[in-house]
Amino acid sequence: MSAQRIEGKVLAAAVKARAAAQVEQLKRQGVEPCLAVVLVGENPASQTYVAGKERDCAACGIRSVRYDLPAETSQQELLELLARLAADDTVHGMLVQLPLPAQIDEQAVIAAIPPEKDVDGFTPVNVGRMMIGQPCFLPCTPAGCLEMIRSTGISIAGKHAVVVGRSNIVGKPAAMLLLAENATVTICHSRTADLADQCRAADILVAAVGKPGFITGDMVKPGAVVIDVGINRGADGKLCGDVDYASAAEKAAFITPVPGGVGLMTRAMLMENTVQAARRAAEKNG
Ligand code: GUN
Repeated sequence: MSAQRIEGKVLAAAVKARAAAQVEQLKRQGVEPCLAVVLVGENPASQTYVAGKERDCAACGIRSVRYDLPAETSQQELLELLARLAADDTVHGMLVQLPLPAQIDEQAVIAAIPPEKDVDGFTPVNVGRMMIGQPCFLPCTPAGCLEMIRSTGISIAGKHAVVVGRSNIVGKPAAMLLLAENATVTICHSRTADLADQCRAADILVAAVGKPGFITGDMVKPGAVVIDVGINRGADGKLCGDVDYASAAEKAAFITPVPGGVGLMTRAMLMENTVQAARRAAEKNG
């Protein structure tokens, strides 16, 4: 068997087209959606991600403002910038690219983002709302994973989903969203004793470990849906995922590629969240 590729490019284009149409409508009402992106330091991967977000904003008609701060920026300086952006009514969505330099407390920074502008869905208020199924901004990567799974047409309810990785920004929220769709969910991590067996039991396998080629074909159940969240540099310098695509594709029914998979959907979901933030602000003020 050879798996069908879940094309991030095609799905992301549809999400962005929807966002662009909503931006047009907001502009006709006199609202120009705006996303502020803050980058501290010069992490090359972060610079690439931020540039991608700016490109998507431009493609959707969203104004983006970017703040590049030096690596030695103090926490106080960053919090002051965030307070200004929080108070600026022309800014609808704001995010700080992670990771942050060691002198800055990540959670203190996230907590400084007003929940109504938290288009990454990282603040405690949005995380809590997601946990209890209330309307909130969903974190972009897990939301993108769910869109990709839904695109296969398989029903998630009753399926066994295994999420490999327990980060706050991918693994944990991905597990919660799958649970909300009535999957039976297992979260695996670096201390899981029988990882390969757990993976082999998965109808839906989400890999978010950050290790190139970590999930191999022998760990994939025949007919599974495999979602690869990893973005790694392989030994050959090329981008690769957490899943060994060639061997996994022989077993899976559906699989996401890297590049061209989850990463594109993550950015598209950010556009959707930003438009939603602008729409809510317009409804509140108008
Ligand atoms: N670093 C890696 N992924 C993300 C993300 O989705 N948002 C932010 N702000 N930083 C990240």
